[in-house]
Amino acid sequence: MIEFRSVRKEYPDGTVAVGDVSLTVPSHRTVVLVGSSGSGKTTLLRMVNRMVEPTSGQVLIDGDDVRDRDAVGLRRSIGYVMQSSGLLPHVRVIDNIATVPVLSGAPRAAARERALDLMATVGLDEELAKRYPSQLSGGQQQRVGVARALASDPNILLMDEPFGAVDPVVRGELQRELLRLQSELGKTIVFVTHDIDEAFALGDEIVILAKEGRIVQRGTRDEILEEPADDFVRDFVGLAGGRREMTLRETPHGTAVVDGSGRVQGVLRGGA
Ligand SMILES: Nc1ncnc2c1ncn2[C@@H]1O[C@H](COP(=O)(O)OP(=O)(O)OP(=O)(O)O)[C@@H](O)[C@H]1O
Ligand SMILES: [Mg+2]
Repeated sequence: MIEFRSVRKEYPDGTVAVGDVSLTVPSHRTVVLVGSSGSGKTTLLRMVNRMVEPTSGQVLIDGDDVRDRDAVGLRRSIGYVMQSSGLLPHVRVIDNIATVPVLSGAPRAAARERALDLMATVGLDEELAKRYPSQLSGGQQQRVGVARALASDPNILLMDEPFGAVDPVVRGELQRELLRLQSELGKTIVFVTHDIDEAFALGDEIVILAKEGRIVQRGTRDEILEEPADDFVRDFVGLAGGRREMTLRETPHGTAVVDGSGRVQGVLRGGA
């Protein structure tokens, strides 16, 4: 379990990135932080592995303040997929994936073997192992990022817009793979995105953030859609524009349910 207790981050230039955030991420669940650019998502994420130190407040993992942990050890024990791929450009794919286990003392051969297994896990062809990151497509690089974050078998995965740089089709594929992986691995995942559909697809719980990390609403997909907290949320999740509005259309064969773009999504059972 990860707990943010009244965390605040104010940078030396006076920018308040995160005002006062309290939030619990239960173990083995995926919590998605979603909000517009500059709402403090990356800042919050990086507080967990101490890449950002809060100005005040605490972050606890399973009850222990991360400040009491050695920062390097802590960072290696947590999987982190960065917003930009974060791969080492002059290091082959296989060794990019094996970086943390090797740094932590694993024999190189064993780490490489595990890296190959992980490549299969995230849907990468073994042939790509010898390439450099620049020789991969965007989607392949993102998969390497995920494999690398999994390499030391961390309990916690921090994922910062990991699928942001790929087209919608590949993005959907990566999302499905993450869901499959998570159903097998049961990690504690904090996933950041500014795409509400991605948040709804992946999150057991979704936390909608406004400026300075202010939590506007937190809940499951259904809770948020059924009862949006305010106009900001209604707009953000697409309820305001009618995109999610369903209407009924009588047909000779029964009652069809039609979405906001006029497409039939299903039929009403039992008739209307
Ligand atoms: N080192 C820094 N010095 C000063 N201000 C910073 C620094 N890092 C981030 N900020 C500011 O803190 C705020 C939150 O930044 P953060 O990167 O957490 O946002 P974000 O929600 O991840 O945005 P995005 O969706 O664009 O990635 C922004 O206003 C940003 O400009
Ligand atoms: Mg960010």
